Amino acid sequence: MNPSTLCVHGCKDPNDTTGAVTVPVYQCATFAHPGLGETSGYDYARLQNPTREQLETLVGALEQADDCLAFGTGMAAIAVLTELLAPGDALIASDDLYGGTVRLLDKVCAKNGVRVDYCDTGDLSAVAALLGEHTRLVLAETPSNPMMHITDIAALAELVHESGAWLAVDNTFLTPYFCQPLTLGADIVIHSGTKYLGGHNDALAGFLAVRGTDLREKLRFLYKTIGAIVAPWESYLLIRGIKTLAIRMERAQSNAQRIAAFLREQPAVTQVLYAGLPDAPGYEISRKQASGFGAMISFYVDSADRAEQVLSRLRLIQFAESLGGVESLLTYPLLQTHADVPEETRARLGINDRLLRLSVGIEDAEDLLADLAQALK
Ligand SMILES: Cc1ncc(COP(=O)(O)O)c(C=O)c1O
Repeated sequence: MNPSTLCVHGCKDPNDTTGAVTVPVYQCATFAHPGLGETSGYDYARLQNPTREQLETLVGALEQADDCLAFGTGMAAIAVLTELLAPGDALIASDDLYGGTVRLLDKVCAKNGVRVDYCDTGDLSAVAALLGEHTRLVLAETPSNPMMHITDIAALAELVHESGAWLAVDNTFLTPYFCQPLTLGADIVIHSGTKYLGGHNDALAGFLAVRGTDLREKLRFLYKTIGAIVAPWESYLLIRGIKTLAIRMERAQSNAQRIAAFLREQPAVTQVLYAGLPDAPGYEISRKQASGFGAMISFYVDSADRAEQVLSRLRLIQFAESLGGVESLLTYPLLQTHADVPEETRARLGINDRLLRLSVGIEDAEDLLADLAQALK
């Protein structure tokens, strides 16, 4: 099945006898045993829940994974992923990452004795310089957040595997509709399901999609032990959201392309960062490894006052800290998503008081352009 069909038909309740075309919510924490030493396949919902299982089947199929685990949030998924590492192990991460991930790596992994190094994962020589005998995991975000740097997933996977480490790719921005990192050689795909997969800013979720029996068993053990699972109702909302993933991604991307072109023409805008602009640094790699560029745009305005003006004048586009929903949202990374990133890193990357990040939604493009035009004037 093609991805857009999988989005609609990629899961079905195997226990159904009614012909229901949607998956029911098994709002159930425990399951009775048919007899001593017997199980229906469901024992206790931290281990298995039929609604969550269908969500995992669906996202796993979209990512072409051997297994997929659904978490309560994207951060819960990343936290469990880092539990693969033991004291003395080392991890390399993209230097331009979601700020919450940086906080987890710096404050939790480091405390647990894991060494964390950052570099531009798009620069293979920088990764090679950091790879060592203790490196177990390389974590890349592409496009990165908020600077939209692109990493060549296949090339990075080859390099990482040569030294026996795993490659995890945060695919939140592109979703499996546009990019499937496991097919390019990554071992693990991360999602904040709160974003495009859910798509409606009404549910939190996270995913790890994996290839390989060894990783799958290790992660399933951590999953049932730590218990950071997504609840049945949220699982249902995610399944429902994914049904329209394909058309939402197409519409948001086509809006983003028009907005990126428009922003470039505005005197108050000094630079636009969008992977879909033909002169963007990662454009050719994006075309090679993904079927789309997504709908996330960062841009610089000419002063901090202008950034404040835009944030307060927008009427339709909302000033809020998330992305990937049907509603367009504008974020101020310096004080929101990346507030916890060390100041030196922010300065080096260019996350300053003139940078804004726009998650383009599925509204009418003309209405979005009109709102931006009046806010930038
Ligand atoms: C790229 C990316 N990964 C992971 C996360 C964390 O996901 P959640 O907010 O669902 O915990 C976010 C949140 O913004 C994100 O943008």
